[in-house]
Amino acid sequence: MKILVINGPNLNLLGIREPEIYGNRTYADLVKFIGDVAADCGIEVEVRQTNHEGVIVDWIQECRGKFDALVLNAAAYTHTSVAVHDAIKAVQVRTVEVHLSEPKSRDDFRKVSFIESVAEKTCSGRGFESYADAIRHLAGRGIFCRRLARGEGV
Ligand code: DQA
Repeated sequence: MKILVINGPNLNLLGIREPEIYGNRTYADLVKFIGDVAADCGIEVEVRQTNHEGVIVDWIQECRGKFDALVLNAAAYTHTSVAVHDAIKAVQVRTVEVHLSEPKSRDDFRKVSFIESVAEKTCSGRGFESYADAIRHLAGRGIFCRRLARGEGV
């Protein structure tokens, strides 16, 4: 199984950006975390980040015939982008929506997600662990991966 992880605008600033909400770990830490979880689940993963809505659309379209599933943190575009919603619908790629924070318990404008209705699952509010939840769901392992099953943690 090969999955694409797309991270949207401002996630490159993790560690600097609102650490009280998003934590102190950096974007490089996140990429390593995702790689470790995927390897543990026996999944091939590619992790990308962009600040541009159209690039997210291009990358979703690229999933056709190339990736088995998409893990998407569309960041602010979650709450605004009909284009990202339409791209997922058009490509029909299995999609899990991810957020570090819990957008629905923040500002009112974050309560709407244009991704939710085209995603098979939303994993949010657990920091980096939201990505682990998404990958393990796609791997069909629930919360258990090999290392966890051996009691070693991730
Ligand atoms: C976010 C939540 C969004 O509301 C926000 O615009 C982001 C990050 C999250 O991961 O918690 O940029 O997607």
